[in-house]
Amino acid sequence: MKILVTGGTGYIGSHTVVELQAKGFEVIIVDNLSNSSIEVLDNIAKISGKKPLFEKFDLTDPEKTETFFRLHNDIRAIIHFAAFKAVGESVQYPLMYYRNNLVSLINTLQGMINNGIRDIVFSSSCTVYGQPEKLPAREDTPIQKANSPYGNTKRISEEIITETSENEAIRAILLRYFNPIGAHETAIIGEFPQGIPNNLMPYITQTAIGKRDFLRIWGNDYDTPDGTAIRDYIHVVDLAKAHVIAVERMIADKSKEKVEIFNLGTGKGFSVMEVIKSFERSTGIHLNYKIMDRRPGDVEQVWADTGFANTELGWKAEKSLDEMTASAWKWEKALAARR
Ligand code: UFG
Repeated sequence: MKILVTGGTGYIGSHTVVELQAKGFEVIIVDNLSNSSIEVLDNIAKISGKKPLFEKFDLTDPEKTETFFRLHNDIRAIIHFAAFKAVGESVQYPLMYYRNNLVSLINTLQGMINNGIRDIVFSSSCTVYGQPEKLPAREDTPIQKANSPYGNTKRISEEIITETSENEAIRAILLRYFNPIGAHETAIIGEFPQGIPNNLMPYITQTAIGKRDFLRIWGNDYDTPDGTAIRDYIHVVDLAKAHVIAVERMIADKSKEKVEIFNLGTGKGFSVMEVIKSFERSTGIHLNYKIMDRRPGDVEQVWADTGFANTELGWKAEKSLDEMTASAWKWEKALAARR
């Protein structure tokens, strides 16, 4: 059975392709390689023994998208990752974010409708919850105004999919990711942050390997036990596996609603300081850091209620924080060895 993975050469996409292949799915990737490399295809093949099919084009192009769907008329379901994802960049270039993230989704949905493809899994984000009043965040926790154009594209995308499904033969599973970190156990695929990383984990590993002098901790005056902000970190392979389960659920007609929403996290929150301690414990490396002011737009604390995903999907994140930080470090070392 053929699954289209848009953005399949990216960080979460590539890990998901490997898990799909392990379950016997045939994968076709569409990616414009704007934030990933063609070598990822060979790296996927090194792990799975099978190179996925690949088409390079931009899903914001409606003609190319429609031609693609007409040529590949045996696609059973879609996992749509293709999107820009840098919060700060989205503040600087909002139109670029709205155009890329929304138009590519609209063209993909149109292609589905025109070509009789029913099922789509969409990568959304816990960013739609903002700072929830009550924790943990449940799928019915009220959506809040996004704090960046990037976050807003996730909220609007969820609405576009939901409203489209109301009058078209489209079904969806919206997966709200918490904070994905780590890499495949082989360290053959992982995250390639461009330039100076914004996210915590790549900044930690780049500091440990000597590419950065010290980690800046954005604020230690939050109302949390150690004053640093709390997130729900989830291993990218655990996250990838949930996508396969979501696809299988749709294909087997097990969805209970046209659009289902699941939180993907571990259900446990860890502070920045706890992540640092975990990294030091799992690698034996001492990390230099400095306390700075809060980063604008950051929420204080958020973690997932994963009960719905656990019971309905029969899925549970398995990897511990120490396994996540160790795996991120293994990947950073593998990257350094490649250069
Ligand atoms: N942090 C630091 N120093 C750094 C980087 C991050 O202290 O150098 C802190 C942040 O302030 C935050 C935590 O580490 O408290 C996690 O930060 P990340 O940037 O790794 O992740 P965010 O939770 O800010 O961002 C994630 C996703 C975004 C999404 C956002 C929604 O990466 O895609 O959640 O809140 F929009």
